[in-house]
Amino acid sequence: MKIPRQMRYIEASEPGGPGVLSLATGTVPVPKPTEVLIRVFAAGVNRPDIIQRKGTYPPPPDASPILGLEVAGEVIALGAGVSGFAPGDRVCALANGGGYAEYCVAPATQCLRWPQGYEATRAAALPETYFTVWVNIFQMGRLSEGESLLVHGGTSGIGLTAIQLAREFGSTVFATAGSREKCAAAIKYGAQAAINYREEDFAERIHDLTLSQGVDVILDIVGAPYFVRNLHCLRKDGRLIEVATMHGSKVADFDISELMRRRATITGSMMRPRTAQEKAAVALALVQRVWPVLDAGRCAPVIDRVFPLAQAADAHRYMEAGAHIGKIVLTVVA
Ligand SMILES: NC(=O)c1ccc[n+]([C@@H]2O[C@H](COP(=O)([O-])OP(=O)(O)OC[C@H]3O[C@@H](n4cnc5c(N)ncnc54)[C@H](OP(=O)(O)O)[C@@H]3O)[C@@H](O)[C@H]2O)c1
Repeated sequence: MKIPRQMRYIEASEPGGPGVLSLATGTVPVPKPTEVLIRVFAAGVNRPDIIQRKGTYPPPPDASPILGLEVAGEVIALGAGVSGFAPGDRVCALANGGGYAEYCVAPATQCLRWPQGYEATRAAALPETYFTVWVNIFQMGRLSEGESLLVHGGTSGIGLTAIQLAREFGSTVFATAGSREKCAAAIKYGAQAAINYREEDFAERIHDLTLSQGVDVILDIVGAPYFVRNLHCLRKDGRLIEVATMHGSKVADFDISELMRRRATITGSMMRPRTAQEKAAVALALVQRVWPVLDAGRCAPVIDRVFPLAQAADAHRYMEAGAHIGKIVLTVVA
């Protein structure tokens, strides 16, 4: 296929609200020796895109300044050092940026084939949450069969991936969410119980649901206001994993002896600043452990709504309104 020199992409004219996003024309990126060039069919929208648009989550220095951390499409060119892919291959990729565009480069080691029976929209909804959930819950959090997990933000893109994967690998999952409808969805996708945090204290409910034992692992996106209550929900040797601080990051009053009593581990991580080698290792683990599960249809992305690329600003408004259940995806037709 002949590669054009120009492409349409979504430009963020300055840090700000969704209104700063608009369709623009720019140069098609050239893959580095370790990268592939992808003709993008669909791109996932993730909460980190919102934070980047606002200007408080700048892209790493070597990444595209264009928004977008995950795409699905067709490989159309290979960097000089890439093997294992050929033009025409359908891939989904964890991009380091640049996804809201007709063409996007990604390290070949962050590209995975579409699971069986997938089309572009579903494939584009996979990488960011599957890479993030795998690393945090299963690698850093060491969640294992028979253990229990509490997922905050249970119907976020991250949350529904966490619920499904944890259930698939033999854990009992509890979730929190902000409405009755969201709680029903969390249960539908595998949570044993869901707690509407607007109506109930989640720590008290976890206490009841686990017969005062607590849970083994907590995946948190709320941050400071939940920190002490999260610790109270951990059973002995429990692990608290922080992947976002949506409601604050500074904890004023924290008793270290709570940690010692529970032999608790507190950790957290960000996917984007991980090295290429680290991301490649996660991709390999996903291919081996998770892609067979997706091929078999035992876990799948939950897609709430699809917008055309040109309506990226509306997609951001929709995500910020916070009523969605699962993923929001942009469709890109080059
Ligand atoms: N560390 C990492 O590597 C990494 C990677 C990807 C994403 N993340 C983080 O993980 C979180 C989930 O990401 P996502 O892309 O799955 O996001 P998402 O689908 O937009 O979900 C965010 C959830 O947060 C809850 N929420 C709490 N306060 C909110 C507010 N003020 N406005 C809107 N929603 C609010 C909402 O659920 P309720 O209605 O139930 O409250 C919503 O479902 C985000 O904080 C994101 O930054 C971290």
